[in-house]
Amino acid sequence: MTQATLTNSLTFATIEAGSGLKSALARPPADILQRVAASGLRGRGGAGFPTSLKWELAAKTAGEPKFVICNADEGEPGTFKDRVILAEFADLVFEGMTIGALAIGARHGIVYLRAEYTYLRPHLEDVLARRRQQGLLGRAVGGREGFDFDIDIHMGSGAYVCGEETALIESLEGQRGEPRNRPPFPIDTGYLGHPTIVNNVETFAWVVCVLAKGSKWFKETGTEKSTGIKLFSVSGDCKRPGVYEFPMGITVAELLRQVGGEGAKAVQVGGAAGQCVPAAQFDRTIAYEDIPTGGSVIVFGPQRDMLEVVTNFLEFFIDESCGQCTPCREGAPVLLQGVAQLRRGQCSMTHLNELRSLGETMQLASKCGLGQSAPNAFLSVVEHFQEEILGRTTV
Ligand SMILES: Cc1cc2nc3c(=O)[nH]c(=O)nc-3n(C[C@H](O)[C@H](O)[C@H](O)COP(=O)(O)O)c2cc1C
Ligand code: SF4
Repeated sequence: MTQATLTNSLTFATIEAGSGLKSALARPPADILQRVAASGLRGRGGAGFPTSLKWELAAKTAGEPKFVICNADEGEPGTFKDRVILAEFADLVFEGMTIGALAIGARHGIVYLRAEYTYLRPHLEDVLARRRQQGLLGRAVGGREGFDFDIDIHMGSGAYVCGEETALIESLEGQRGEPRNRPPFPIDTGYLGHPTIVNNVETFAWVVCVLAKGSKWFKETGTEKSTGIKLFSVSGDCKRPGVYEFPMGITVAELLRQVGGEGAKAVQVGGAAGQCVPAAQFDRTIAYEDIPTGGSVIVFGPQRDMLEVVTNFLEFFIDESCGQCTPCREGAPVLLQGVAQLRRGQCSMTHLNELRSLGETMQLASKCGLGQSAPNAFLSVVEHFQEEILGRTTV
């Protein structure tokens, strides 16, 4: 079992600087893609899209210039692992972006940095400046003639929705940060209409590990469909909150044991947008084939009021909705009113069923992941904590 509350015991701390890029520079782009594919690495930002497939599609798409974007917008409630990676292992992130550029044929990289992480910018700029001096960015990267690549940092403005990759691109282009219709996808029509890969901070760091230590090494951990190790941000009612490294496929119960969260009545996996897993299901696994996650784990102890938890999440989604589509803009406030009625014991079963149906409509009809996942916590709590909720129903 790999675990770490201290960042120096993370796998990232064991990677020799430059070893991933050295390995990448020694092989043709197709070989880099093949290695990433063989590792089974899936995006660590939440959706779990196979990294190699995204890169292959961008590599195949004709059109210059191409772009590599690092999504460092980390705005999901309960998520703070990217902040640690950027603070402690920025070289790995920039090295992973450089390998991505080599694989798809890009010359320009952009880190979209969460506004609240402005304090990290001077450190990141220092690392970039050092890498330029070392010949690891700029003209002829690593001595490879014809491979020119550099990275800029662009600050976000504090909008959660701008973590959604197409809203992020809109924001980068100077427009309002609103999700685009998909298709087309960024791999062919991304930043300024050019082929673009957008990946999570952690994904880039793992690419370096895969190139440095090999696809086989990466695949040895995890499950068949969710290979490797993953970083988790653990918070809430547990004795040892922090950033942890666990193999994919860990059960919720084992994770709780590691963080001192035994006795929890529920765990929110995947942040406000994720799933609320009740104690009866703690034998389930955290993996794309069961409970997918970008890494946020919030532990709820026995004393927590689950309707207060849902209120908190819904208020977040109402604040952060871009307002572009009706199910999300209008649906979340109606759910919040319903939760207030439930808390007062004034919600009839008929109305509760209507709210459930509204939640399901939002999941189906909202335009982007924000609205599609906004009702998740409400629906899970209604399903798994009926006794707690209906205990208050007086109508
Ligand atoms: C509302 C919303 C917010 C998101 N925020 C982030 C984020 O902060 N960081 C991130 O990597 N992905 C975020 N995503 C997912 C991105 O759209 C995208 O899938 C991800 O950056 C792809 O990287 P990966 O394949 O390496 O995981 C968000 C998605 C949605 C719908
Ligand atoms: S689901 Fe919400 S955040 Fe996404 S486009 Fe619609 S209104 Fe905007």
